[in-house]
Amino acid sequence: MSTLSRRAHTLIDSPALAGYLIEHFARAGEPWEPSTRPDGYIALCIAENKLLADDLAGLLAGYARHVPATVLGYDMMIGSLAFREQLAAFMSRAFLGRAIAAEQLAVVAGAGVVLELLFYALADEGEGVLVPTPSYAGFWPDLQLRDRLSLVPVDCPSAGGFPLTTAALDAAMDGAGVPVRALLFTTPNNPLGRVYQREELRAILAWSERRGIHVVFDEIYALSVFGERSFVSAASLRPSLGEQVHIVWAFSKDFGASGLRCGVLVSENQRVIQVVDQLAYWSACSGHTQHLLGQLVADTEVVDGWIDRMRASLRHACAHVTARLEALGIPYVPADAGFFVVCDLRRYLDAPTWAAEHALWRRLVDEANVNLTPGQACRISEPGFFRLCYAAVPAAAIDVALARIGDVLGRSGRA
Ligand SMILES: Cc1ncc(COP(=O)(O)O)c(C=O)c1O
Repeated sequence: MSTLSRRAHTLIDSPALAGYLIEHFARAGEPWEPSTRPDGYIALCIAENKLLADDLAGLLAGYARHVPATVLGYDMMIGSLAFREQLAAFMSRAFLGRAIAAEQLAVVAGAGVVLELLFYALADEGEGVLVPTPSYAGFWPDLQLRDRLSLVPVDCPSAGGFPLTTAALDAAMDGAGVPVRALLFTTPNNPLGRVYQREELRAILAWSERRGIHVVFDEIYALSVFGERSFVSAASLRPSLGEQVHIVWAFSKDFGASGLRCGVLVSENQRVIQVVDQLAYWSACSGHTQHLLGQLVADTEVVDGWIDRMRASLRHACAHVTARLEALGIPYVPADAGFFVVCDLRRYLDAPTWAAEHALWRRLVDEANVNLTPGQACRISEPGFFRLCYAAVPAAAIDVALARIGDVLGRSGRA
């Protein structure tokens, strides 16, 4: 007989990691290396930007030389006021498009935590949250595991690049079968790398207001924008966010610093900030990390230079991978942001089914030793799409991976 709680058993019995992540961790210890392991594993399934990791680590090492002893002690669990002031100034200037006050920010250990705590404040167990798909897969565990919310996908069709319409939002909300309390909208989108424009965001905002629900804008890729369409933050649409609009950001993606665990909530709803404050004790960001990141974002010239270099390297990496995809005749959804492109491998499926998508993913892993994120994991509503993350490995590894993918697809006889 178990001595653990029912809650513990719910977690123990719930599905572990997604299949592609289990495969990733099984293979990650033997990565591709041109001279010692030329047939090694190449992970194109993790949304990380490692292109400038050494550059950033060098900057942080500089700030780490003088860390005040005050970081050792307790401070506010939603981030010290000093850090939130530095962040407010930086975020306002760098991407929010207007001034936000430190009191409107809450800092906790990553965007996933921000989402979990924020939605604890916005919806009760069993209530619904609309999520347009394709989507970041982690929203499901983030909002289901402890908040016990019901995620309602708003499926966008592949034709025309997965457009989202207010008619689809209405249909999803009306057919949800549970009271829907919020819409969770990601811009730039993961996995599409799509930057939504001012008019599109205005339409989302107007729709949410008409339906009387909260809208949470996940802007975690706000600075990782390198294409034709420039980033527009929800904060810049109006002079005030009001009580029902909230923004999520983190250092995880734009600074490639997912391991530092630092996420930020922007909300003008002081009761929401108060709820997050009461829960933040269990998931605070370390004082040491706050200090280093605070120094970084306050160092205007240095941080702006780093962001410029980061964007240039992403632009270059994206152009590189898409040129290779074009050479192989693989269609993809053009991206303006993020670290990924959605590739259309529908014509290589044996049938338009999830089983056939899984079989193709399996072949790519087994025969090419390359791991792509299957579309099903990104909640794409149609089988045959794969997310390819191109910023976590060097360009040479991209070339090898795509040559191997080309071989596997070539053997399928459908090239
Ligand atoms: C859209 C989106 N939101 C949130 C997260 C979670 O970020 P964090 O590592 O800061 O919890 C991710 C991570 O991939 C993401 O892509």
